[in-house]
Amino acid sequence: LQLEMFVDELPDMPKIQGFDVVNGSPKSKSLTIGMFRKKWKFHRDLPPTPVFAYGASRLTATVPGPTIEALHGIDTYVEWQNHLPSKHILPWDPTIPTAVPATKKGVPTVVHLHGGIHEPASDGNSNSWFTAGFKEKGPTWANATYHYNNNQQPGNLWYHDHAMGLTRVNLLAGLIGAYVLRHPDVEGPLKLPHGDEFDRPLLVFDRSFRTNGSIYMNSTGNNPSIHPQWQPEYFGDTIIVNGKAWPKMMVRRRKYRFRIINASNARFFRFFFTNGLEFIHVAADSTYLGEPVVTNETLLAPSEIADVVVDFSKSETDDAILANDAPYPYPSGDPVNESNGKVMKFIIKKNQEVDTWRVPNKLIKYPSPDLSSVRETRYIAMYEYTSDTDEPTHLYINGKPYEAPATETPKAGTSEIWNVINLTEDNHPLHIHLGLFTVLDQTELVNKEEFKGCMFKENDAIKCHISKYARGKKVEVPAHEKGWKNVYKMTPGFVTKILVRFSYIHSNSSYSFDPTANPGYVYHCHVSISPFPFILFVFKHGIDII
Ligand code: C2O
Repeated sequence: LQLEMFVDELPDMPKIQGFDVVNGSPKSKSLTIGMFRKKWKFHRDLPPTPVFAYGASRLTATVPGPTIEALHGIDTYVEWQNHLPSKHILPWDPTIPTAVPATKKGVPTVVHLHGGIHEPASDGNSNSWFTAGFKEKGPTWANATYHYNNNQQPGNLWYHDHAMGLTRVNLLAGLIGAYVLRHPDVEGPLKLPHGDEFDRPLLVFDRSFRTNGSIYMNSTGNNPSIHPQWQPEYFGDTIIVNGKAWPKMMVRRRKYRFRIINASNARFFRFFFTNGLEFIHVAADSTYLGEPVVTNETLLAPSEIADVVVDFSKSETDDAILANDAPYPYPSGDPVNESNGKVMKFIIKKNQEVDTWRVPNKLIKYPSPDLSSVRETRYIAMYEYTSDTDEPTHLYINGKPYEAPATETPKAGTSEIWNVINLTEDNHPLHIHLGLFTVLDQTELVNKEEFKGCMFKENDAIKCHISKYARGKKVEVPAHEKGWKNVYKMTPGFVTKILVRFSYIHSNSSYSFDPTANPGYVYHCHVSISPFPFILFVFKHGIDII
């Protein structure tokens, strides 16, 4: 199926305000957002595709869903409603831990606001799922209306489905959307590109389609005798931005701000412009950077966010293609091809303009990590168990499955050092709910196989003398990734040391942090976005494994 590139205009998703304005001052707001089955046009020449879409109504639902705009300090309440039919539009594997309604009818869903800091009952725990009309509910379901405090630092969040075992297919079906948290008093003076024309979220993801327009997903498992349909990773050959395949956007010779969200299940993107234009990073996935950082390329794992300014007045050409050269799976998979190596095209107007936007030398400085506040040091090892035929079957953390009792019980307002030891062959984007972290360093393991052998027996990095092995080469953290983040790339064969701050920058809120509270919070790898509780945590690469 060969689709012509750069024929559809880049859409802007509809905006929904998460606050009201009463007599000139902002007030909290309650929203209702539904999930609907409908058809979505991904490309001029592709028949409409059956999708699951978020929206205020079926008519206005889009893929991705509407961009929710929230204000710092003003609560947003959302009742997420499931209006999905009784059957899924994609194949799902019942042999992995999965939300399955007792009546076998309905599509279980639950919404996680990725990057949000709020009470556990609003966090979208994967076992808090519900079907259409709340007819059936998962074991940790607590309330229909979610409360987002919006008390955290301004920045970029996104919402996506998080249901046990179905996350990967619910996302593929279209259940994703952007959430921008603004703090005008703090951000306004920066004079960064602002307003609908110049400040645009870009949700980038990959899909494959059949000629009839439907989403193609290989439904034969890698290891069919154990899991008939389960595929650990999904890669599509069509690159979609804001719901259109390889779109184009007309721009003026001025600065624009793009909040680029990698909303793929498994694909890493290493973005660059074919005409050498630069990315001026102003923020990462949780907070602003202290000062802007200029790069020629930017590598985003699934669920990472780059918040960049691009200055088209610097362009020597009249168009620029945003391209990608990240192998898939990353880092040791296939090289990109003609299709997945291109993302979108910018057509740049000829005449120069006066630009009123700027990128100041200083942005917003947050406190640097304070090592003296560290209360706990943990070792988090990720390794795969394989079948007799060498197929990966389970990917656990410290040898423990998701169902095991929680081993991480941090205290509110404290910091911890986590040494994340990646003994797999793939790079895993580790996402921690509720915690913001900074990456301190990455150190290669020497004699990895020997250490791994011990870990399979002991499941305990200290007993296996991790310090004897964590002494290889060190890799610097790139400047634009040194700020506070909620997800980062765990390099295979390396120990990544992070300082995690639980409920960082969260003030004057009514919520109390209790890590043992049910449903609690999770941390997990974001490849295929399978949620694993961090209290009960598990790392199951790929998806929903056994
Ligand atoms: Cu973006 Cu627990 O996920």
